[in-house]
This record gives sequence, C-alpha cells and structure tokens, in this order.
Amino acid sequence: MQLDPESNRVAVTIPRSADSFDALWENALRDERVTARVILRDGVIVGNISCFQFNGLDSVGYWIDRNSWGRGIASRALELLLCEVTRRPLHAQVATSNAASLRILQKCGFEIVRIQISPATDRYLACEEALLILR
Ligand SMILES: CC(C)(COP(=O)(O)OP(=O)(O)OC[C@H]1O[C@@H](n2cnc3c(N)ncnc32)[C@H](O)[C@@H]1OP(=O)(O)O)[C@@H](O)C(=O)NCCC(=O)NCCS
Repeated sequence: MQLDPESNRVAVTIPRSADSFDALWENALRDERVTARVILRDGVIVGNISCFQFNGLDSVGYWIDRNSWGRGIASRALELLLCEVTRRPLHAQVATSNAASLRILQKCGFEIVRIQISPATDRYLACEEALLILR
C-alpha cells in the first residue's frame, strides 16, 4: 500500500524503502507510546492507523488501500482510534491538497491551527501543510 503512486501523490509522501519501512514498524510496534492498529474490512487488511510521537507531539496518521477509498473507512477508523486513545491534545499534519484527510480530521473535531510551507525531506515533498489539533 505504501508504494502505491496515487496514494503517495495524495499524501505528498515519498515511499520508504523496504528496509526503512520494516525498521519503522519494528520500532513503532515496540514503542509503548505508539498505538498502531491494522484496519480490517470483512476480514481483509485495508489499511493502518496509528497514534505516535512526531516532533515530540502525540500525532495521528492513517493509510488506506486505494481500492477501498471513499467508503468511510478512514473516518470510522479515526473515530475508533479516538475512543481508544483518550489523551489530548492530539495533533495531525496534512498537505492542504489532501482534502479527504482534512475532512476526516475535521469531522472528528480536529481544528486547523496553522498553515505553513513545509520543506522537502527524505519522506515528504515540499508542500503547503495544515497543522491540526484535537483539544
Ligand atoms: C486520505 C485517505 C486516508 C482517505 O481515506 P478514505 O477511507 O477514502 O476516507 P473516507 O471515505 O473515510 O472519508 C473521506 C472524506 O473526504 C471527503 N472527500 C474525499 N475527496 C475529497 C475531495 N477531493 N475534496 C473534499 N472532500 C473530499 C469524502 O466525501 C469524505 O467525507 P464525507 O464523509 O463527509 O463524505 C486515503 O485517501 C489515503 O489513504 N490516502 C493516502 C494516505 C494519506 O493521505 N494518509 C493521510 C496523510 S495525512
């Protein structure tokens, strides 16, 4: 899923190498501060959602298989994650071009606190991004 070009275009991300992907998830799944969940639809894996530390802030992120977009899956997954992870505030960073992700976060009560231009990194292309908070 993380290699899909259209998903990366939407998320404004650069796919990770297999080694870096494996290392990231190995560390995440060992980290007690991370809540990571696989998303199942009719018993089939269609994505993942997690709460993790990013720049020292509790942040949420999710990724859905392109074949399952537009069915309310990310919205429902975020609702469920927010019931399980009750600490606040939570944060999210989203490219402003990613309208679906902005909508999902705002439906769950996240508010935009800043819009900024984020520089290119080895993981993200330079883009305008929104910083959101759920208080
Ligand atoms: C963004 C992403 C998670 C959306 O997942 P999804 O399961 O299709 O999302 P949902 O169906 O739950 O909800 C999408 C919402 O955005 C809306 N939406 C979709 N495209 C939109 C657009 N271009 N403009 C405005 N709203 C849009 C939908 O109508 C829906 O809102 P609604 O419930 O009010 O109708 C999915 O496209 C994805 O995994 N992208 C790649 C990874 C990514 O972008 N992750 C997030 C990084 S911040």
